Amino acid sequence: MTKTLDQLLTQQSFSREDLIRLLSVKGNDTQKVLDRALQVKAEAVGRKVYLRGLIELSNICAKDCCYCGIRKSNKNVHRYTLSDEEVYAAADFAWQKGFGSLVIQSGELIAPAFTNHIERLLIGIHQRTNAELSITLSCGEQPLEVFKRWHQAGAHRYLLRIESTDRELYYQIHPHNSLHAYEKRIEGLKNLRKAGYQVGTGVMIGLPGQTIENLADDLLFFKSMDLDMIGMGPYIEHAETPLYDRRNLLWPTEERFRMSLLMIAGLRLLMPDINIASSTALETLDPLGRQSGLLAGGNVVMPNLTPVSNRLDYMLYDNKPNLDKDPALSTSSLNEVIEAIGEKICYYEQGNSQHFLKRQG
Ligand code: 5AD
Repeated sequence: MTKTLDQLLTQQSFSREDLIRLLSVKGNDTQKVLDRALQVKAEAVGRKVYLRGLIELSNICAKDCCYCGIRKSNKNVHRYTLSDEEVYAAADFAWQKGFGSLVIQSGELIAPAFTNHIERLLIGIHQRTNAELSITLSCGEQPLEVFKRWHQAGAHRYLLRIESTDRELYYQIHPHNSLHAYEKRIEGLKNLRKAGYQVGTGVMIGLPGQTIENLADDLLFFKSMDLDMIGMGPYIEHAETPLYDRRNLLWPTEERFRMSLLMIAGLRLLMPDINIASSTALETLDPLGRQSGLLAGGNVVMPNLTPVSNRLDYMLYDNKPNLDKDPALSTSSLNEVIEAIGEKICYYEQGNSQHFLKRQG
């Protein structure tokens, strides 16, 4: 006898078939899955939200990912790098507001000058904030030695998205060459673990040609790699990228949104004690996307602290929100919005991955 959805949702472990079934629900059953994920989150990590102030350090990138607006070949992008003063101002803001944590994200460069630049910023931020902030880096694939140096300089977490764990799909959205090698991405994730980080990855949801089976396999990959944190969200087309040509294959945006929430929920059921971001891309598709992600099992939000004058130049996809100030910051309503859905922001807490802390013992 096939089990009911209710039976499925209360399981402790999930097979590939179970995950495919969870991700295939329609209509009212979607809400059932999301509600169960919220319950599991509440039991495992509490209805708590951790903040990471996002600093988009530079849009200079050596890579040519076929979906990304700041890919190297896009000549219509004005390239920038924030000054140290701008980065420190953002860090000070986060520290004073009790954010507990920062993410430094950047286009990808492998170069001694870039290594030194990040290292200097890490040291500088810790000096001026009494080493009270935890720092996540999202600066692409780097040699193990570089990962180690940055960890030594005070980066605690690293986000390196695999984008899709299906090798074939990976090469449909990346150039097939040594700079964009699938195996190197996986090796990068393993090296991050070796270097001592809380390790995060993620995928885009609703890519042209992506199937529910692919997404179920993504979740199983996260579990098999025993990851500490995940940031994933809907794929959103960008007109100045090659993948735009395949937009006729896309699911409607509502469906990409719904699948993104189901992925967060499925992941929360599969890995109850990890950190899961409610991504900015969710907000692009729905003004209440951030809250929806939290109610589907997410527990991290990343308010954008990049200087407003640079934001137009960090357009990973079309219609990226909060090009002026993140409304959540300006209205001081972030708290209200989050409390209104029954969640609590943990100010002055780093919000480290419980999963990581348990593994450390
Ligand atoms: N749609 C959604 N997410 C995107 N990213 C880059 N381009 C897009 C897009 N078109 C995401 C990738 C990358 C992160 C920094 O932004 O997952 O890892």
